[in-house]
Amino acid sequence: MALPESFLQELLSKNDIESVASSYVSFKRRGRNLVGLCPFHGEKTASFNLYPETSSFYCFGCGAGGDVITFIKRIENLDYLDAVRFLADRSGMKMPEQSRENDQTSRLRMRILEANREAARLYHGALYRPEGKVALDYYHSRGYTDATIRHFGLGFAPPGWDYLLKGLRAKGFKEEELVAAFLAARGRNGGHYDVFRNRVIIPIIDIRGNVVGFGGRVLDDTKPKYINTESTLAFSKSRNLFALNFAKNEGRELNLCEGYMDVIAMHQAGFTNTVAALGTSFPEEQMQLIARYADRINLIFDADGAGQKATRRAIDNLRRTGLDVRVVTIPDGKDPDEFIQKNGAAAFKLLLDRAANAVEHRLLEIGKTHNILTSEGKLAYYNEAAQILAQLDSPVERDLYAGRLSELLSVSKDAILREVESNRKKKQRQEVRYQLPNLMRKEQRELQQVNPEAVTYTRAASAEEGLLGTLILHPDYIRQVRQVLSPEQVVTEFNRRLYSHLLDRDRQGLLVELAFLAANYDQDGMAYISRMVQEAKEHTVTPEEILRLAAVIREEHALRHLNDPAAVTDDDIQSMLDALRARKQDK
Ligand code: UTP
Ligand code: MN
Repeated sequence: MALPESFLQELLSKNDIESVASSYVSFKRRGRNLVGLCPFHGEKTASFNLYPETSSFYCFGCGAGGDVITFIKRIENLDYLDAVRFLADRSGMKMPEQSRENDQTSRLRMRILEANREAARLYHGALYRPEGKVALDYYHSRGYTDATIRHFGLGFAPPGWDYLLKGLRAKGFKEEELVAAFLAARGRNGGHYDVFRNRVIIPIIDIRGNVVGFGGRVLDDTKPKYINTESTLAFSKSRNLFALNFAKNEGRELNLCEGYMDVIAMHQAGFTNTVAALGTSFPEEQMQLIARYADRINLIFDADGAGQKATRRAIDNLRRTGLDVRVVTIPDGKDPDEFIQKNGAAAFKLLLDRAANAVEHRLLEIGKTHNILTSEGKLAYYNEAAQILAQLDSPVERDLYAGRLSELLSVSKDAILREVESNRKKKQRQEVRYQLPNLMRKEQRELQQVNPEAVTYTRAASAEEGLLGTLILHPDYIRQVRQVLSPEQVVTEFNRRLYSHLLDRDRQGLLVELAFLAANYDQDGMAYISRMVQEAKEHTVTPEEILRLAAVIREEHALRHLNDPAAVTDDDIQSMLDALRARKQDK
């Protein structure tokens, strides 16, 4: 799958990391580097660093790091080849022929998408067969028009075990492909059966128009109510939103509902800027997807306990996106679907217009739990409210709400603002304290996954990281280091592979740069490597230091083999003696 070197070089020269990343992150210059808010995790203080000199990025908050291709892989959710293709498109380059056919994963992904598309056709077709009448009636009974059914490509999976299997086999799909697509499952006896049976089917379509998955609802009260496509090569629920394919073109305001049926009802009523989260956890990835398409988001969740909990979680995960978040409360504990059925679109529009912003909503919420007519109630409300206001980053907004609170509680506005200010200070201290151990834990985990041996051979690994980071920064030293350190002497496996790789590229006269490594390492691997590079940048490079690091690695290698005398070579003994001598001289 190797792309021609000359193609990659041209690609990289036409897509410098600064201009590429700047369309996703707004940067401030800090010395030679740029810093901004990390697009890969929510944060308020900028820890995302861009290093134009090494064409790399690294986030000290979440450990994401790498070159420009890794950046695109992550931010656009693409695999390596698609990320390269993305950058090629961006700079008007043509992809070299070849590649895709021998890339098994992308081929399977394409087969899954094809199978899904055919499946959506078959499910939709089933609605108009005799056995599909129950489903068509079901949709009609929910008030969906035929136009809506067609627009969303709604369908029906008939009862029985193999409606879809039969249809897709006839189109040339293999059973393994259908299992990979989550359309079929393998039974205990080795046979296959349809995953979706006797359910109305809602296709999930991504922003490029691919059918990526399905939701299937029972027609009665059987459990489980819904079956949904789980992760496949073509689908991750945290990276998709139902109906975003339609809603993304409807301006910079989105409505977020809980369910498929709500979204469909909303679209039919004219609120075509509505999407649903696929699940109830509202992961940050999904919230960032929203932030890419909207400036304002209206949360429209059920008024029941679960819905309110979901609202709070969504508000929390949205706060850091900087979106204007509003909360729509539907009276009488209804969901939007039922409300619109009963009261019509115009009434719903009124609710939307009256949507409270997130702070108002929280203040209302806590207002329900305290009786401010009693002095204890008033004090408790005051304390909680001051904490909510402390979360506002805008002084103007803090002032505004302090004013309102002051009227409500007849407490002076200045006193409220002082309380809010002291809460903010406390919160900032806590954030710093919370972030540090979190960062360390993440690094530990990352190390364990990428280079598990680094945890055991710490001294070796830290010398290796220092040396390799330096060599990527200053490849002109590779020739010298090659003389004194052979790949077999590198103790930890990941670093050994990386070192061989650097030597190979250098021997072939190829550039040694982060971006050229992206084809061979996954995201965590690239993050690990770019951290080495960043850390190496902190030190001044001298030939002596480089040789010292090489010596430490040789020494550790030799020590490792001491336990196994048969494996100790004369060279090992020599290098141990050298190392020991060098150590004495240091002192
Ligand atoms: P709801 O139970 O509110 O369903 O779940 P709904 O969409 O309003 O459906 P109706 O109106 O009762 O027919 C909200 C969302 O939660 C997910 C689905 O995405 C659903 O649309 N869900 C719910 C599941 O994934 N599995 C379930 O078993 C239930
Ligand atoms: Mn509903």
